[in-house]
Amino acid sequence: MVTPHFSGSTRYGTDLFEAIDQLKKQKNAVILAHYYQEPDIQDIADYIGDSLGLAQNALKTTADIIVFAGVHFMAETAKIINPTKKVLLPDVNAGCSLSDSCPPPLFKAFKDKHPDHLVISYINCSAGIKALSDIICTSSNARQIVDSLPTEQKIIFAPDKNLGAYINKQTGRQMVLWNGSCMVHEIFSLEKITKLKNRHPNAMFIAHPECEEAVLQLADYIGSTTALLKYTQQSPAQTFIVATEAGILHRMQIEAPGKTFIPAPPNNSCACNDCPHMKLNTLEKLYDCLKNETPEILMNEQLRLAAKKPIDRMLEISARLGL
Ligand code: 13P
Ligand code: SF4
Repeated sequence: MVTPHFSGSTRYGTDLFEAIDQLKKQKNAVILAHYYQEPDIQDIADYIGDSLGLAQNALKTTADIIVFAGVHFMAETAKIINPTKKVLLPDVNAGCSLSDSCPPPLFKAFKDKHPDHLVISYINCSAGIKALSDIICTSSNARQIVDSLPTEQKIIFAPDKNLGAYINKQTGRQMVLWNGSCMVHEIFSLEKITKLKNRHPNAMFIAHPECEEAVLQLADYIGSTTALLKYTQQSPAQTFIVATEAGILHRMQIEAPGKTFIPAPPNNSCACNDCPHMKLNTLEKLYDCLKNETPEILMNEQLRLAAKKPIDRMLEISARLGL
C-alpha cells in the first residue's frame, strides 16, 4: 500500500483509509485493484495491476476474503480460481462493454460454424464464454499464448476484434475474430491525437492494443497497462500521450515522477476515456462491501469448473514463460 494522497474523510465521520485498513486486518482480507480504478482505491490496495497480474495475485493470496476493485469479469475470474475464498466486488453492476459484446449463446453458434478451430478468449469475457474457450489470454500474454499453438492450428479469437487484429498482424496468423470491442478504447480521435502529437513533437504516443488499428498505427509503443507503465519508467522521453483508460495516469505519475502524461483525447468532449464500469466502484462502496461482506461473487459449480480449465492453461503457459 502507498501513502494515501487524500485523507478519505466521509459521511462515516472517520478516516475511510484507516477504517478499511482495520477491517482488512480483522477479516484477513486483501484488496486487489486494477489500474483503471479511482486514485483513492489504487492507494489503499494491497496490489495494483493489469488483468494478468491480478489473476496471478488472486491465485497466490492467502487471505480469506478478496475485495476485487475492478469489474465483474475480473472478480469472477478470481472466484473461479479461488472457490473457497469469499470474493467481493464493491459495485456488482461494474460490468464491461467488451464482455457484454459477446453473449454465450451467440458465441456458441459462431463456434459451431468453425468446428476445427480452437478458441482463445481474452480474459475480458463472462464465465459462460470462458467455459466455451480452450485458452484464456490477457493483453500481457496474448502474443505468447497464440504462439504456443502450432502455426497450422486454426483459431477463433474472442471477444476483442482490435486485440485479435493486432495479434494477427504481429504473428501473420489469420485468426477468425469475434466482432467485439471496448467502448473506452474505441473512443479516441485520430484527428485530435495527430494534432496533439504535432503540438508535442518529443512526446511518445503509447497505446493499449484494445485501440482501433488506425490509432495503433500512430503509436510509438503498444502494450498492456503494465507494459505501458513500465515503458514510461524506462523510456528517456519526458512526455507521453496515453491512449488507454485515464486511471493509469495516477500510477504513471507515482512511478515515473516528474514526467508529463497527457490522456489521448476522445472524439467528443465527454470524459469517455474514463471507463464508466470501472468508475462505479468508490472508496465508500469498498468500505461498505468489506464491512457487510456483500456483494459477493457466487457461481454455479459446473460453470466454474468449465471456465477454470482455460484459465489454468493460461496461467500454466504464463508461468512456464516467466510472464
Ligand atoms: P489489461 O489489464 O490487460 O491491460 O486490460 C485492460 C482492460 O481493458 C481491462 O479492462
Ligand atoms: Fe471493459 Fe473497456 Fe472498461 Fe476494460 S476499459 S472494463 S475492456 S469497458
